[in-house]
Amino acid sequence: MLNILELKNLNISYKEKVILRNANLGIEQHSIVSIMGNSGSGKSTLFAAINGFLEEQGGSYSGEILFNSKNIKAFKTADLRRTISTLFQDSKPFDLSIEKNLTYAMEYYEGKVLNKKDRVRELLTMVNLYDEVKDNIHISTRKLSGGQKQRLCIARMLTTNPEILIFDEPFSSLDRKNTLIIEDLLRQLSKKYTILLSTHNEEQAERISDKIVRIDDFELKGVK
Ligand SMILES: Nc1ncnc2c1ncn2[C@@H]1O[C@H](COP(=O)(O)OP(=O)(O)OP(=O)(O)O)[C@@H](O)[C@H]1O
Ligand SMILES: [Mg+2]
Repeated sequence: MLNILELKNLNISYKEKVILRNANLGIEQHSIVSIMGNSGSGKSTLFAAINGFLEEQGGSYSGEILFNSKNIKAFKTADLRRTISTLFQDSKPFDLSIEKNLTYAMEYYEGKVLNKKDRVRELLTMVNLYDEVKDNIHISTRKLSGGQKQRLCIARMLTTNPEILIFDEPFSSLDRKNTLIIEDLLRQLSKKYTILLSTHNEEQAERISDKIVRIDDFELKGVK
């Protein structure tokens, strides 16, 4: 099976503060990989190395991160972030309409958006939100529930045609019902995308992941 993403001898640090030493990991296409580890162990930092935000945050890495066997340093930052789409720990919808949340990036990258209505419907359908919001596409996202907002943020991640989706603690503020909705959704999305997520919940990682790794003592260790 093809490894869409590979970490090779990866060392990450913020100046002299070491976060990760000699990490190696292969991520198969269309798999779900969970990263576990105590708070402060470096999960978000590892994601920042992969999606190209690490240097802006004052960190750096040595070793290689390969996307389809190509070093990610060879990609333009904007292309990397389109291809590897991230739901950050504190992601929120833009304070705009539901439609605008989904067309914003398309307008940025494509100029005029063709078939806007169909594409918005398709995105909302992919995250199982369309039926709940179809009569309110043009109203502000403020009226959505927390779980609906999160599904909208996930739909927004898909607007740049990514291949890899990174979810940094996607379950942390959800109740059990919404957690199960998101678990199902991630499984559904893994048919089309490759998924990397962080979670503190071991049982949940067991339920949804093809592979689990843990950051412990600055090392990336295989769990499953
Ligand atoms: N921009 C930064 N500059 C310096 N140190 C940082 C920076 N961002 C994070 N750190 C430190 O790096 C370590 C790893 O942080 P990180 O946020 O990656 O952990 P985490 O595993 O995602 O934690 P959590 O589970 O709480 O989200 C922590 O000690 C944190 O204080
Ligand atoms: Mg974090």
